[in-house]
Amino acid sequence: MHEYGLFAFQDKAEVLAKSKEFWNPGKTQFWIDSGIPLVIDRREDYFIYDMSGKRLIDVHLNGGTYNLGHRNPEVVQAITVAMQRFDIGNHHFPSLARTALAEALVRTAPPNLTKVVYGSGGGEAIDIALKTARHATQRRRIVSIVKAYHGHTGLAVATGDDRFSKLFLADRPEEFPHVPFNDVDAMDQALRGRDVAAVIMETIPATYGFPLPAPGYLEAVKALCEKYGSLYIADEVQTGLMRTGELWGITKHGIEPDILVTGKGISGGMYPIAAVLVSEAAAGWLTEDGFGHISTFGGAELGCIAALKTLEIVNRPQTRSMVHYIADRIGRGMREIQATYPDWFVSIRQDGVVLGLEFDHPQGAKHVMRQLYENGVWAIFSTLDPRVLQYKPGILLEPELVEELLDRTEVAIAKAHREVARLGRRAG
Ligand SMILES: Cc1ncc(COP(=O)(O)O)c(C=O)c1O
Repeated sequence: MHEYGLFAFQDKAEVLAKSKEFWNPGKTQFWIDSGIPLVIDRREDYFIYDMSGKRLIDVHLNGGTYNLGHRNPEVVQAITVAMQRFDIGNHHFPSLARTALAEALVRTAPPNLTKVVYGSGGGEAIDIALKTARHATQRRRIVSIVKAYHGHTGLAVATGDDRFSKLFLADRPEEFPHVPFNDVDAMDQALRGRDVAAVIMETIPATYGFPLPAPGYLEAVKALCEKYGSLYIADEVQTGLMRTGELWGITKHGIEPDILVTGKGISGGMYPIAAVLVSEAAAGWLTEDGFGHISTFGGAELGCIAALKTLEIVNRPQTRSMVHYIADRIGRGMREIQATYPDWFVSIRQDGVVLGLEFDHPQGAKHVMRQLYENGVWAIFSTLDPRVLQYKPGILLEPELVEELLDRTEVAIAKAHREVARLGRRAG
Protein backbone atom coordinates (compact mmCIF):
# COMPACT_ATOMS: atom_id res chain seq x y z
CA MET A 1 0.00 0.00 0.00
CA HIS A 2 1.33 3.43 -0.99
CA GLU A 3 -0.27 6.03 1.22
CA TYR A 4 0.24 9.75 1.36
CA GLY A 5 -2.11 12.12 3.10
CA LEU A 6 -5.05 12.60 0.78
CA PHE A 7 -4.53 9.47 -1.30
CA ALA A 8 -3.65 5.81 -1.13
CA PHE A 9 -2.97 3.21 -3.85
CA GLN A 10 -2.47 -0.54 -3.57
CA ASP A 11 0.51 -0.58 -5.90
CA LYS A 12 1.98 0.97 -9.03
CA ALA A 13 -0.25 -1.09 -11.33
CA GLU A 14 -3.28 0.59 -9.74
CA VAL A 15 -1.80 4.05 -10.24
CA LEU A 16 -1.07 3.34 -13.91
CA ALA A 17 -4.54 1.89 -14.49
CA LYS A 18 -6.27 4.85 -12.82
CA SER A 19 -3.96 7.28 -14.55
CA LYS A 20 -5.25 5.89 -17.85
CA GLU A 21 -8.83 5.89 -16.65
CA PHE A 22 -9.00 9.34 -15.07
CA TRP A 23 -6.02 11.32 -16.35
CA ASN A 24 -4.34 10.80 -19.72
CA PRO A 25 -4.61 7.44 -21.48
CA GLY A 26 -2.37 8.38 -24.42
CA LYS A 27 0.50 9.70 -22.35
CA THR A 28 0.36 6.92 -19.75
CA GLN A 29 0.37 4.22 -22.42
CA PHE A 30 3.19 5.91 -24.32
CA TRP A 31 5.57 5.53 -21.38
CA ILE A 32 4.47 1.99 -20.66
CA ASP A 33 5.08 1.08 -24.32
CA SER A 34 8.45 2.85 -24.21
CA GLY A 35 9.62 0.61 -21.37
CA ILE A 36 9.60 3.51 -18.93
CA PRO A 37 6.65 2.97 -16.58
CA LEU A 38 7.87 5.72 -14.29
CA VAL A 39 5.71 7.11 -11.50
CA ILE A 40 7.86 9.64 -9.71
CA ASP A 41 7.37 9.48 -5.98
CA ARG A 42 10.05 10.94 -3.71
CA ARG A 43 12.46 13.49 -5.10
CA GLU A 44 15.37 15.45 -3.76
CA ASP A 45 18.57 17.04 -4.99
CA TYR A 46 19.12 15.75 -8.55
CA PHE A 47 17.41 12.44 -7.79
CA ILE A 48 13.92 11.23 -8.55
CA TYR A 49 12.59 7.93 -7.20
CA ASP A 50 10.10 5.70 -8.95
CA MET A 51 7.30 4.24 -6.78
CA SER A 52 9.30 1.01 -6.87
CA GLY A 53 12.13 2.80 -5.07
CA LYS A 54 14.34 2.87 -8.18
CA ARG A 55 16.62 5.92 -8.07
CA LEU A 56 17.30 8.03 -11.16
CA ILE A 57 19.69 10.92 -11.67
CA ASP A 58 17.58 13.59 -13.35
CA VAL A 59 19.15 15.13 -16.46
CA HIS A 60 15.81 16.00 -17.99
CA LEU A 61 15.05 18.54 -15.28
CA ASN A 62 11.85 19.34 -17.13
CA GLY A 63 13.78 21.66 -19.39
CA GLY A 64 15.57 23.36 -16.52
CA THR A 65 12.67 23.54 -14.08
CA TYR A 66 14.87 21.62 -11.64
CA ASN A 67 17.99 23.56 -12.51
CA LEU A 68 18.67 23.93 -8.78
CA GLY A 69 17.69 20.34 -7.99
CA HIS A 70 14.44 18.97 -6.65
CA ARG A 71 13.06 20.65 -3.58
CA ASN A 72 16.10 22.85 -3.28
CA PRO A 73 16.32 23.46 0.48
CA GLU A 74 16.87 27.21 0.16
CA VAL A 75 13.87 27.61 -2.13
CA VAL A 76 11.71 25.40 0.11
CA GLN A 77 12.76 27.45 3.12
CA ALA A 78 11.97 30.76 1.40
CA ILE A 79 8.48 29.63 0.41
CA THR A 80 7.76 27.98 3.74
CA VAL A 81 8.59 31.18 5.59
CA ALA A 82 6.62 33.25 3.07
CA MET A 83 3.52 31.09 3.54
CA GLN A 84 3.22 32.43 7.07
CA ARG A 85 2.40 35.79 5.54
CA PHE A 86 1.58 35.56 1.83
CA ASP A 87 -0.54 33.47 -0.51
CA ILE A 88 -1.13 33.80 -4.26
CA GLY A 89 -2.10 37.41 -3.80
CA ASN A 90 -4.52 39.66 -5.64
CA HIS A 91 -3.34 40.08 -9.18
CA HIS A 92 -5.03 43.44 -9.67
CA PHE A 93 -3.03 45.30 -7.03
CA PRO A 94 0.57 46.39 -6.68
CA SER A 95 2.34 43.86 -4.50
CA LEU A 96 5.51 43.62 -2.43
CA ALA A 97 6.71 40.35 -3.95
CA ARG A 98 5.79 41.14 -7.57
CA THR A 99 7.50 44.52 -7.41
CA ALA A 100 10.64 43.12 -5.75
CA LEU A 101 10.96 40.35 -8.34
CA ALA A 102 10.35 42.74 -11.25
CA GLU A 103 13.12 45.01 -9.97
CA ALA A 104 15.49 42.04 -9.48
CA LEU A 105 14.81 40.75 -13.00
CA VAL A 106 15.30 44.16 -14.61
CA ARG A 107 18.54 44.77 -12.71
CA THR A 108 20.06 41.50 -13.96
CA ALA A 109 18.73 41.65 -17.54
CA PRO A 110 20.18 43.31 -20.64
CA PRO A 111 19.91 47.06 -19.91
CA ASN A 112 17.23 47.86 -22.50
CA LEU A 113 14.65 45.63 -20.73
CA THR A 114 12.81 47.77 -18.22
CA LYS A 115 9.39 46.25 -17.49
CA VAL A 116 8.16 42.85 -16.32
CA VAL A 117 4.84 41.14 -17.05
CA TYR A 118 4.01 37.87 -15.29
CA GLY A 119 2.41 34.66 -16.43
CA SER A 120 1.70 31.42 -14.62
CA GLY A 121 3.68 29.29 -17.09
CA GLY A 122 5.91 29.50 -20.14
CA GLY A 123 3.14 29.28 -22.74
CA GLU A 124 1.21 32.12 -21.20
CA ALA A 125 4.38 34.18 -21.02
CA ILE A 126 5.02 33.54 -24.73
CA ASP A 127 1.45 34.64 -25.50
CA ILE A 128 2.09 37.82 -23.52
CA ALA A 129 5.30 38.42 -25.49
CA LEU A 130 3.52 37.96 -28.82
CA LYS A 131 0.62 40.20 -27.79
CA THR A 132 3.09 42.83 -26.63
CA ALA A 133 4.91 42.74 -29.98
CA ARG A 134 1.65 43.04 -31.88
CA HIS A 135 0.56 46.00 -29.81
CA ALA A 136 3.91 47.75 -30.15
CA THR A 137 4.21 47.30 -33.91
CA GLN A 138 0.53 47.19 -34.84
CA ARG A 139 1.48 44.22 -37.05
CA ARG A 140 0.01 40.75 -36.82
CA ARG A 141 2.51 38.27 -38.29
CA ILE A 142 4.90 36.31 -36.08
CA VAL A 143 7.89 34.45 -37.55
CA SER A 144 9.33 31.38 -35.84
CA ILE A 145 11.59 28.56 -36.98
CA VAL A 146 10.53 25.24 -38.42
CA LYS A 147 10.30 22.77 -35.50
CA ALA A 148 10.01 25.60 -33.00
CA TYR A 149 8.52 24.88 -29.62
CA HIS A 150 7.28 27.71 -27.47
CA GLY A 151 4.43 26.03 -25.60
CA HIS A 152 0.84 25.04 -26.20
CA THR A 153 -1.26 28.06 -25.33
CA GLY A 154 -3.38 29.96 -27.84
CA LEU A 155 -0.74 31.95 -29.71
CA ALA A 156 2.36 29.99 -28.71
CA VAL A 157 1.08 26.78 -30.24
CA ALA A 158 0.75 28.42 -33.66
CA THR A 159 4.47 29.25 -33.64
CA GLY A 160 5.33 25.57 -33.30
CA ASP A 161 5.24 22.29 -35.16
CA ASP A 162 2.09 21.22 -37.01
CA ARG A 163 1.88 18.11 -34.84
CA PHE A 164 0.52 20.20 -31.99
CA SER A 165 -1.21 23.08 -33.77
CA LYS A 166 -3.19 21.00 -36.29
CA LEU A 167 -4.57 18.74 -33.56
CA PHE A 168 -6.61 21.65 -32.26
CA LEU A 169 -7.14 23.46 -35.58
CA ALA A 170 -4.78 26.16 -34.36
CA ASP A 171 -2.34 26.19 -37.30
CA ARG A 172 -2.38 29.60 -38.96
CA PRO A 173 0.38 29.61 -41.59
CA GLU A 174 -0.53 33.06 -42.93
CA GLU A 175 -0.14 34.73 -39.56
CA PHE A 176 2.58 32.43 -38.25
CA PRO A 177 5.08 31.59 -41.01
CA HIS A 178 7.91 29.19 -40.09
CA VAL A 179 11.38 29.48 -41.62
CA PRO A 180 14.27 27.00 -41.48
CA PHE A 181 16.71 27.45 -38.60
CA ASN A 182 20.14 28.88 -39.45
CA ASP A 183 18.89 30.20 -42.81
CA VAL A 184 19.43 33.97 -42.93
CA ASP A 185 18.07 34.36 -46.47
CA ALA A 186 14.79 32.68 -45.53
CA MET A 187 14.50 35.03 -42.56
CA ASP A 188 15.20 38.03 -44.76
CA GLN A 189 12.48 36.92 -47.14
CA ALA A 190 9.99 36.45 -44.32
CA LEU A 191 10.65 39.91 -42.87
CA ARG A 192 11.12 41.88 -46.07
CA GLY A 193 7.43 42.75 -46.43
CA ARG A 194 7.68 44.84 -43.23
CA ASP A 195 4.49 43.27 -41.91
CA VAL A 196 6.03 41.09 -39.19
CA ALA A 197 5.50 42.04 -35.55
CA ALA A 198 8.23 39.82 -34.18
CA VAL A 199 10.63 36.99 -34.70
CA ILE A 200 10.48 34.58 -31.79
CA MET A 201 13.56 32.48 -31.31
CA GLU A 202 14.92 30.16 -28.69
CA THR A 203 18.58 30.88 -28.19
CA ILE A 204 19.16 27.12 -28.68
CA PRO A 205 15.99 25.30 -29.84
CA ALA A 206 15.41 22.66 -27.15
CA THR A 207 12.66 20.44 -28.48
CA TYR A 208 14.41 20.35 -31.86
CA GLY A 209 17.39 18.73 -30.10
CA PHE A 210 19.49 21.80 -29.27
CA PRO A 211 20.97 22.48 -32.73
CA LEU A 212 23.42 25.30 -32.10
CA PRO A 213 22.92 28.57 -33.93
CA ALA A 214 25.57 28.95 -36.64
CA PRO A 215 28.12 31.64 -35.78
CA GLY A 216 26.54 35.00 -36.51
CA TYR A 217 23.05 33.62 -37.20
CA LEU A 218 21.20 35.10 -34.22
CA GLU A 219 23.07 38.36 -34.67
CA ALA A 220 21.98 38.44 -38.33
CA VAL A 221 18.36 37.78 -37.35
CA LYS A 222 18.48 40.63 -34.86
CA ALA A 223 19.95 42.94 -37.53
CA LEU A 224 17.15 41.96 -39.93
CA CYS A 225 14.58 42.68 -37.23
CA GLU A 226 16.00 46.15 -36.82
CA LYS A 227 16.13 46.71 -40.57
CA TYR A 228 12.49 45.74 -41.13
CA GLY A 229 10.96 47.09 -37.92
CA SER A 230 10.18 43.73 -36.30
CA LEU A 231 10.85 42.93 -32.65
CA TYR A 232 13.20 40.17 -31.50
CA ILE A 233 11.74 37.92 -28.81
CA ALA A 234 14.29 35.74 -27.03
CA ASP A 235 12.68 32.63 -25.58
CA GLU A 236 15.02 31.86 -22.70
CA VAL A 237 12.67 29.41 -21.00
CA GLN A 238 15.26 26.62 -21.36
CA THR A 239 18.47 28.54 -22.00
CA GLY A 240 18.18 31.13 -19.24
CA LEU A 241 19.20 31.07 -15.59
CA MET A 242 22.86 30.15 -16.05
CA ARG A 243 22.33 27.03 -18.13
CA THR A 244 24.71 28.30 -20.82
CA GLY A 245 27.14 29.60 -18.21
CA GLU A 246 25.62 33.09 -18.40
CA LEU A 247 22.42 34.26 -16.75
CA TRP A 248 20.75 34.70 -20.15
CA GLY A 249 22.12 32.77 -23.13
CA ILE A 250 21.26 35.56 -25.56
CA THR A 251 23.79 37.92 -23.97
CA LYS A 252 26.57 35.60 -25.19
CA HIS A 253 25.63 36.80 -28.67
CA GLY A 254 25.76 40.46 -27.67
CA ILE A 255 22.05 40.77 -28.48
CA GLU A 256 19.66 43.00 -26.58
CA PRO A 257 16.29 41.42 -27.36
CA ASP A 258 13.20 43.62 -27.37
CA ILE A 259 11.44 41.00 -25.26
CA LEU A 260 12.86 38.14 -23.18
CA VAL A 261 10.78 35.28 -21.80
CA THR A 262 11.71 33.18 -18.79
CA GLY A 263 9.81 30.29 -17.22
CA LYS A 264 10.47 26.78 -15.94
CA GLY A 265 13.56 27.22 -13.71
CA ILE A 266 12.52 30.66 -12.46
CA SER A 267 9.95 28.77 -10.36
CA GLY A 268 12.77 27.16 -8.38
CA GLY A 269 10.91 23.96 -9.29
CA MET A 270 8.52 24.72 -6.45
CA TYR A 271 5.88 27.27 -7.40
CA PRO A 272 4.74 27.98 -10.98
CA ILE A 273 5.63 31.36 -12.38
CA ALA A 274 6.93 32.82 -15.64
CA ALA A 275 7.96 36.31 -16.63
CA VAL A 276 8.27 38.48 -19.72
CA LEU A 277 10.87 41.23 -19.73
CA VAL A 278 10.00 44.05 -22.11
CA SER A 279 11.85 47.07 -23.47
CA GLU A 280 10.42 50.48 -22.70
CA ALA A 281 9.61 50.99 -26.39
CA ALA A 282 7.53 47.78 -26.53
CA ALA A 283 5.85 48.22 -23.15
CA GLY A 284 3.30 50.83 -24.20
CA TRP A 285 0.23 48.74 -23.46
CA LEU A 286 1.13 48.60 -19.75
CA THR A 287 0.46 52.33 -19.57
CA GLU A 288 -2.34 52.50 -22.14
CA ASP A 289 -4.35 49.73 -20.46
CA GLY A 290 -2.65 48.05 -17.54
CA PHE A 291 -5.47 45.48 -17.47
CA GLY A 292 -4.63 44.43 -21.03
CA HIS A 293 -3.48 41.01 -19.87
CA ILE A 294 -5.21 39.50 -16.86
CA SER A 295 -4.08 36.31 -15.17
CA THR A 296 -5.22 35.31 -11.68
CA PHE A 297 -2.18 33.15 -11.03
CA GLY A 298 0.28 35.15 -13.16
CA GLY A 299 2.88 36.53 -10.75
CA ALA A 300 1.47 34.63 -7.78
CA GLU A 301 3.28 36.03 -4.78
CA LEU A 302 4.60 32.68 -3.56
CA GLY A 303 5.97 32.12 -7.06
CA CYS A 304 7.68 35.52 -6.88
CA ILE A 305 9.34 34.51 -3.61
CA ALA A 306 10.55 31.25 -5.18
CA ALA A 307 11.84 33.22 -8.17
CA LEU A 308 13.63 35.81 -6.03
CA LYS A 309 15.47 33.06 -4.16
CA THR A 310 16.25 31.32 -7.46
CA LEU A 311 17.70 34.49 -8.97
CA GLU A 312 19.81 35.03 -5.87
CA ILE A 313 21.22 31.50 -6.09
CA VAL A 314 21.95 31.53 -9.82
CA ASN A 315 23.68 34.91 -9.57
CA ARG A 316 26.19 33.76 -6.92
CA PRO A 317 29.79 33.69 -8.20
CA GLN A 318 30.21 30.12 -6.89
CA THR A 319 27.20 28.99 -8.95
CA ARG A 320 28.78 30.42 -12.07
CA SER A 321 32.07 28.62 -11.45
CA MET A 322 30.19 25.39 -10.68
CA VAL A 323 28.35 25.56 -14.03
CA HIS A 324 31.62 26.14 -15.85
CA TYR A 325 33.22 23.20 -14.07
CA ILE A 326 30.30 20.85 -14.80
CA ALA A 327 30.05 21.96 -18.44
CA ASP A 328 33.76 21.40 -18.98
CA ARG A 329 33.85 18.00 -17.26
CA ILE A 330 30.71 16.72 -19.00
CA GLY A 331 31.95 17.99 -22.36
CA ARG A 332 35.27 16.19 -21.96
CA GLY A 333 33.56 13.02 -20.73
CA MET A 334 31.17 13.04 -23.67
CA ARG A 335 33.96 13.50 -26.18
CA GLU A 336 35.74 10.49 -24.68
CA ILE A 337 32.61 8.36 -24.98
CA GLN A 338 32.05 9.61 -28.51
CA ALA A 339 35.59 8.63 -29.51
CA THR A 340 34.71 5.00 -28.67
CA TYR A 341 31.50 5.00 -30.77
CA PRO A 342 32.08 7.58 -33.52
CA ASP A 343 29.70 5.92 -35.99
CA TRP A 344 26.87 5.66 -33.46
CA PHE A 345 27.30 8.70 -31.23
CA VAL A 346 27.72 11.14 -34.10
CA SER A 347 27.65 14.59 -32.52
CA ILE A 348 27.66 16.54 -29.30
CA ARG A 349 25.87 19.86 -29.30
CA GLN A 350 26.85 21.81 -26.23
CA ASP A 351 26.63 25.25 -24.74
CA GLY A 352 27.21 25.17 -20.98
CA VAL A 353 25.05 22.46 -19.45
CA VAL A 354 22.69 22.51 -22.43
CA LEU A 355 23.52 19.37 -24.42
CA GLY A 356 22.01 17.52 -27.36
CA LEU A 357 23.55 14.11 -28.06
CA GLU A 358 22.99 12.93 -31.62
CA PHE A 359 22.85 9.24 -32.57
CA ASP A 360 22.95 7.68 -36.00
CA HIS A 361 19.48 6.18 -36.04
CA PRO A 362 16.08 7.81 -36.69
CA GLN A 363 14.93 6.88 -33.16
CA GLY A 364 18.41 6.62 -31.63
CA ALA A 365 17.74 8.85 -28.63
CA LYS A 366 14.75 6.71 -27.60
CA HIS A 367 17.03 3.68 -27.33
CA VAL A 368 19.60 5.62 -25.32
CA MET A 369 16.84 7.08 -23.13
CA ARG A 370 15.60 3.60 -22.24
CA GLN A 371 19.05 2.23 -21.55
CA LEU A 372 19.81 5.24 -19.38
CA TYR A 373 16.59 4.58 -17.50
CA GLU A 374 17.68 0.97 -16.92
CA ASN A 375 21.00 2.37 -15.72
CA GLY A 376 19.63 4.89 -13.24
CA VAL A 377 19.54 8.09 -15.31
CA TRP A 378 16.53 9.98 -16.60
CA ALA A 379 17.06 11.97 -19.83
CA ILE A 380 14.47 12.50 -22.55
CA PHE A 381 14.62 12.30 -26.35
CA SER A 382 13.87 15.41 -28.42
CA THR A 383 10.24 15.28 -29.43
CA LEU A 384 10.84 16.96 -32.79
CA ASP A 385 14.07 15.08 -33.61
CA PRO A 386 14.23 11.67 -31.89
CA ARG A 387 17.79 11.07 -33.08
CA VAL A 388 18.87 13.56 -30.44
CA LEU A 389 18.85 13.07 -26.68
CA GLN A 390 18.35 16.14 -24.53
CA TYR A 391 20.92 15.92 -21.78
CA LYS A 392 20.55 18.64 -19.19
CA PRO A 393 22.70 18.33 -16.08
CA GLY A 394 21.82 20.56 -13.13
CA ILE A 395 23.91 23.63 -12.39
CA LEU A 396 24.68 22.60 -8.80
CA LEU A 397 25.67 18.96 -9.46
CA GLU A 398 28.37 17.78 -7.07
CA PRO A 399 31.59 16.57 -8.76
CA GLU A 400 31.13 12.95 -7.56
CA LEU A 401 27.67 12.86 -9.08
CA VAL A 402 29.06 14.23 -12.34
CA GLU A 403 31.47 11.28 -12.46
CA GLU A 404 28.70 8.78 -11.63
CA LEU A 405 26.52 10.32 -14.32
CA LEU A 406 29.24 10.00 -16.95
CA ASP A 407 29.94 6.38 -15.99
CA ARG A 408 26.27 5.46 -16.23
CA THR A 409 25.90 7.35 -19.50
CA GLU A 410 28.81 5.51 -21.08
CA VAL A 411 27.29 2.13 -20.19
CA ALA A 412 23.88 3.14 -21.55
CA ILE A 413 25.26 4.47 -24.83
CA ALA A 414 27.17 1.22 -25.32
CA LYS A 415 24.11 -0.91 -24.57
CA ALA A 416 21.87 1.13 -26.85
CA HIS A 417 24.46 0.75 -29.59
CA ARG A 418 24.33 -3.03 -29.25
CA GLU A 419 20.54 -2.99 -29.11
CA VAL A 420 20.20 -0.94 -32.29
CA ALA A 421 22.75 -3.12 -34.07
CA ARG A 422 20.75 -6.19 -33.02
CA LEU A 423 17.43 -4.80 -34.15
CA GLY A 424 18.86 -3.60 -37.43
CA ARG A 425 18.53 -0.15 -38.87
CA ARG A 426 14.77 -0.38 -39.29
CA ALA A 427 14.17 -0.67 -35.54
CA GLY A 428 11.77 1.92 -34.21
C1 LIG B 1 11.50 26.95 -25.04
C2 LIG B 1 10.17 26.80 -24.40
N1 LIG B 1 9.32 27.85 -24.41
C3 LIG B 1 8.11 27.77 -23.84
C4 LIG B 1 7.69 26.60 -23.23
C5 LIG B 1 6.33 26.54 -22.61
O1 LIG B 1 6.40 26.48 -21.23
P1 LIG B 1 5.21 25.84 -20.38
O2 LIG B 1 5.23 24.37 -20.60
O3 LIG B 1 5.54 26.24 -18.97
O4 LIG B 1 3.92 26.45 -20.86
C6 LIG B 1 8.52 25.50 -23.19
C7 LIG B 1 8.10 24.25 -22.56
O5 LIG B 1 8.68 23.21 -22.70
C8 LIG B 1 9.80 25.60 -23.79
O6 LIG B 1 10.64 24.56 -23.80
